[in-house]
Amino acid sequence: MTMQFNDETFRGDYTFHNSPEAIRRFPFPFDRDSYAYSVNIEQHPGGPAGSPFEFAFDVDEHYVAEMNDRAITLADDPMRCQSLPHMELAGWDLLELIMVSKARDYPELFSLSRDGTSWHWINKPLGIEQRFTFLDATTLPCGPLEYITRQAQGDFALLHEREGNLWLDAGMITSQADWSLDFDVGMNFFEWHAPVPKARKMGVFDKALKFLLAVTQEQSYRRLNWTMTVNPRLDTSPENYHKWGPEKRTITPENVGAKQFLRVELQTFWRLPRSNALAFPIRCYLCSLEDLASQPKWARRLHRVLRDIDPDLAEYKGFAVNQEMIVKYLAQFDDGAETSPGI
Ligand code: HEM
Repeated sequence: MTMQFNDETFRGDYTFHNSPEAIRRFPFPFDRDSYAYSVNIEQHPGGPAGSPFEFAFDVDEHYVAEMNDRAITLADDPMRCQSLPHMELAGWDLLELIMVSKARDYPELFSLSRDGTSWHWINKPLGIEQRFTFLDATTLPCGPLEYITRQAQGDFALLHEREGNLWLDAGMITSQADWSLDFDVGMNFFEWHAPVPKARKMGVFDKALKFLLAVTQEQSYRRLNWTMTVNPRLDTSPENYHKWGPEKRTITPENVGAKQFLRVELQTFWRLPRSNALAFPIRCYLCSLEDLASQPKWARRLHRVLRDIDPDLAEYKGFAVNQEMIVKYLAQFDDGAETSPGI
């Protein structure tokens, strides 16, 4: 397999773009014409060949540009990567999981040779070659969590399990939908989810936590979450709200198709072997409304979902201010046809 990596940016001139193939494989998250929070969890990996679900950690045309964007964010704010002292072993577990998976699933791009604790890692797209001793952090240029997540698309949270709860004790978070690792670090499952409207009362978080505590090494899982973002920006953090918040006001009826993006998170759950921590990678996919409209059934469905969504969710997800314009734009693609459940 040969993969072409886009030369693109996620800030400034925003040259991010999706190829026709990237649009085709976009993980459209709605299986019906309406949306409510639910515990939408299924087994991972697994899915059609070429889909973002096929492999443990999807690598696509945005890989190199996303890693450059992460490096810029970290240079500006090193607190986007944090690991409490007891989480170093979980960092090694995650490093192993990602290296083994990538070398297995993308052998043309990555390779890993292991001789006991002497490991040799090659990352061709980023031009990295590293010999190191597994579990000896002095042999890497930085801690294991930071080292590997500078080479893996998506954000990564590492959860420590104790007292029947999960604690957000480490993470690499540079492409989040308006939440802060620096604020949430050390919180438990219910504490960091406190700002989410409706879901706790619906019992969603009680059920989800129970499920996550039962995840074993033998089987990992995934769910999709979504929000809306103006401009293809990965770093929509509270820390930088002053940079991207005002951009919401730049949407007009003329540019909404090109500037308004559906932002989908492919979230996966992995029990780690040595630390018993839970890894929670959050991979972000962006697609403009006009690119989504190239698939008529997506535009039709998105129109209905966004038109009828609970106002509290539109507010929480941050697009209430532009909802009317977005819905008006999408209405032109809705022929009123009846749809059946399924994507
Ligand atoms: C939102 C983290 C698992 C459901 C969030 C937020 C964070 C987060 C930081 C943003 C809260 C804010 O506004 O500040 C995590 C972590 C998880 C996890 C680290 C792994 C253990 C789950 C699971 C569910 C879930 C299993 C299943 C139902 C939600 C929902 C939202 C949310 C519905 C609101 C999202 C939106 O409307 O855009 N989560 N979460 N989370 N989470 Fe989780």
